[in-house]
Amino acid sequence: MSSWRIQPARAVRGRWRPPGDKSISHRAAILGLLAEGTTEINHFLTADDCLRTLHIVQQLGAHVEWRSGTSLAVTGVGRQPLQEPPDVLDAGNSGTTARLMAGVLASAPIFSVLTGDESLRRRPMRRIVEPLQRMGAQIDGREGASRLPISIRGNTLRAIQYVTPVASAQVKSCILLAGLRAAGITEVVEPYLSRDHTERMLQAFGVELEIQMGESGHHRVRLRGGQTLHACSLTVPGDFSSAAFWIVAALLLPGSDLIIEGVGVNPTRTGLLEVLASADVHLDWEQLDEQGGEPVATLRVRAQPLRAMQIGGALIPRLIDEIPLMAVLATQAVGETHIRDAAELRVKESDRIEAIATELRKMGAQIDPLPDGLRIQGPTPLHGAEVQSHGDHRIAMALAIAGLVAQTGETTIHEVECVQTSFPDFEQVLASLCVPR
Ligand code: S3P
Repeated sequence: MSSWRIQPARAVRGRWRPPGDKSISHRAAILGLLAEGTTEINHFLTADDCLRTLHIVQQLGAHVEWRSGTSLAVTGVGRQPLQEPPDVLDAGNSGTTARLMAGVLASAPIFSVLTGDESLRRRPMRRIVEPLQRMGAQIDGREGASRLPISIRGNTLRAIQYVTPVASAQVKSCILLAGLRAAGITEVVEPYLSRDHTERMLQAFGVELEIQMGESGHHRVRLRGGQTLHACSLTVPGDFSSAAFWIVAALLLPGSDLIIEGVGVNPTRTGLLEVLASADVHLDWEQLDEQGGEPVATLRVRAQPLRAMQIGGALIPRLIDEIPLMAVLATQAVGETHIRDAAELRVKESDRIEAIATELRKMGAQIDPLPDGLRIQGPTPLHGAEVQSHGDHRIAMALAIAGLVAQTGETTIHEVECVQTSFPDFEQVLASLCVPR
């Protein structure tokens, strides 16, 4: 098991382009599989999670050819049936791979078994199994098919209208992907808008969707089954969730001046910027562009004083993956920060509420877990300590930022292999952007 030893830093400075977006890379590989023709993908995230999806896509009949380090071509099956996989499909640590692929598998006339690593096998699958069964898929698995491994006997499905109890892009995307080959119009209604990369990318592949925002914040997507996806060329924007670690480091370390280029700023992902704006923290946006239906910007971040933040409700899905990092930010903000309505954090790669509270306390933070969030008192000087990642990439990286902003002492973070799932170059980026004390 490897560890990181992090020293407090003076500042972060420089220009940097984040690696490709994880959510968008998964979707590019999956839609590439389903499309007619060859999809060219640039700036694909070559991290474990997305490589799992790519491997599964190949096991189902796509032809993948690498053009260079992060560019590849995926030739899809189009209207032909998916190939029945000769072996169990392993999603590793990746919830997105498991849940999105389940939708694809359920709508194909093949038998498959989907599994994952120890963490993924603990995570809830009923949320996708139940709607897929309602659409007519035969799914079996552990604990009444609520945990991986699951077996799926796919079928010609019937379209359903599904009102999801949680605002989850994985659930929404799973049902929409299943609906692509279902008879009739599939409709998904979510209580709040979750990330909409699937909707945007389906449109880039020529699929017609009907999208409505309800007055109470709920969101409705309708999709007619039987449409053909047409291959296209895509450049994956930089991952806002990876950029967020360096946004926070730059805000907290005096003297920082960081330019982040080519970062995706889809509003369903940038809740962190909304919260910062509500606390009078403003970043400069240098330009705006659009790639494959996704907005892309260059951001400039300099250190600024911070006030405590109140985070909950419809904002949560727009910053769900940034919450462990925002807990670090809140330790340095003046006042008491409350994060509520975020019980979903308990069923991520780890129980992120307990994990971040336990580990930041070891560094001197005043942080309390709540059933659905966190309460953090600031500003509190942090000190180096020996901490654990809980096998969770976002906990490991949030603790690394805490180690950089600590006033004194070295921070040792154990079990950091998990960072390979989303940001394999994190340590190199740290070395290139941080000015040592
Ligand atoms: C993701 C959706 C979110 C997010 C995850 C990636 C996606 O999960 O936390 O990191 O790519 O669709 P949920 O759908 O469980 O909220």
